[in-house]
Amino acid sequence: MGTMTIKYLDLKRINDMHADEIRQAVTAVIDSGWYLQGEAVSRFEHDYAAFVGTRHCVTCGNGLDALRLIMRGYMELGKLSQGDEVIVPANTYIATILAITDCGLVPVLVEPRIDTLLIDDSIIEERLSPKTRAVMLVHLYGRCSMTARIAAICRRHGLLLFEDNAQAHGCMFGGRRTGSLGNAAAHSFYPGKNLGALGDAGAVTTDDSQLAEVVRAVANYGSSRKYVFDYQGLNSRMDEIQAAVLAVKLRYLDSDNARRKAIAQYYDDTIRVDGVCTVPFRNADNVVHIYPVLCDDRDALREHLSNRGIGTVIHYPIPPHRQRCYSQWNHLSFPITESIHLRELSLPCHQAMTDAEVESVADAVKQAY
Ligand SMILES: Cc1ncc(COP(=O)(O)O)c(C=O)c1O
Repeated sequence: MGTMTIKYLDLKRINDMHADEIRQAVTAVIDSGWYLQGEAVSRFEHDYAAFVGTRHCVTCGNGLDALRLIMRGYMELGKLSQGDEVIVPANTYIATILAITDCGLVPVLVEPRIDTLLIDDSIIEERLSPKTRAVMLVHLYGRCSMTARIAAICRRHGLLLFEDNAQAHGCMFGGRRTGSLGNAAAHSFYPGKNLGALGDAGAVTTDDSQLAEVVRAVANYGSSRKYVFDYQGLNSRMDEIQAAVLAVKLRYLDSDNARRKAIAQYYDDTIRVDGVCTVPFRNADNVVHIYPVLCDDRDALREHLSNRGIGTVIHYPIPPHRQRCYSQWNHLSFPITESIHLRELSLPCHQAMTDAEVESVADAVKQAY
């Protein structure tokens, strides 16, 4: 066998798996002459709400906007106010935090557990204050971060529960899909996500009919009737082409997820190397968006794989509290979060990979150091 190049993520191959149907769907939109707020969006909203198991799905421009719209929506409904505190994992992607601060709310960062990489539910309660109004869960890497304990905390303290489901389409918890576990959930359909569009796209799912109505209006200039503006809104809409593509790909999401999980299982079972720690927090219910390993010498492993033509990505190199945009928190210390950001490396793990490629990645990791 010659030298293989294995990209971290191969969007061309992923979308080629359903190329004919995707092309047909896009062509149908082009030919319809109707590009926004039409039938393709309505159909996808219906299909995705049914998939997640919520009464409503309201599509929008991207995942960051979906997060902003949920919190803006509850502010318009008087359930959140400027300065209210939101519990959120310290090791999330920056978008979760950006959405909170953009709404004038205050993120309260909570350390994850090193064995799951998800928010540590045993330390949430000590971070609550009289200003805490909500918990924002992030199902990072495809792993469900909801627990019975978190549900009890929200109930006991009357907190809203939000889910950032950008990385966990199709994940389950107790027989329900993530995205249906709290008051509202944000979804990103960025091309590299498990359910990925051909550009930016996002959605809010919720059972709360009032919230759904406000989110729909705010995402459309604050208008629910043409030229009547109830809110100082945004323009954040999913276009018809993205909706048509996503409706095709949604039909394959569960089987794509099954393939990603099988690859992750193979890595879990075969990668046993000193200095490389797999984090196999998976059960039948989780999905795999990212396959993380924690390494003692990340640069060395990354270079070793790169020399063998294998692409990797770091999720993420700098935690939110150490970013320049949040200089007011740069002095804070979150040792577990910081150690994850120093040690994390993501291996290729997507549904279009062949068995030979998966074996090559695992073999290459085993030969490291
Ligand atoms: C956890 C998380 N939240 C939010 C987002 C934001 O989504 P988008 O890129 O669609 O704005 C992303 C992905 O980019 C994400 O990974």
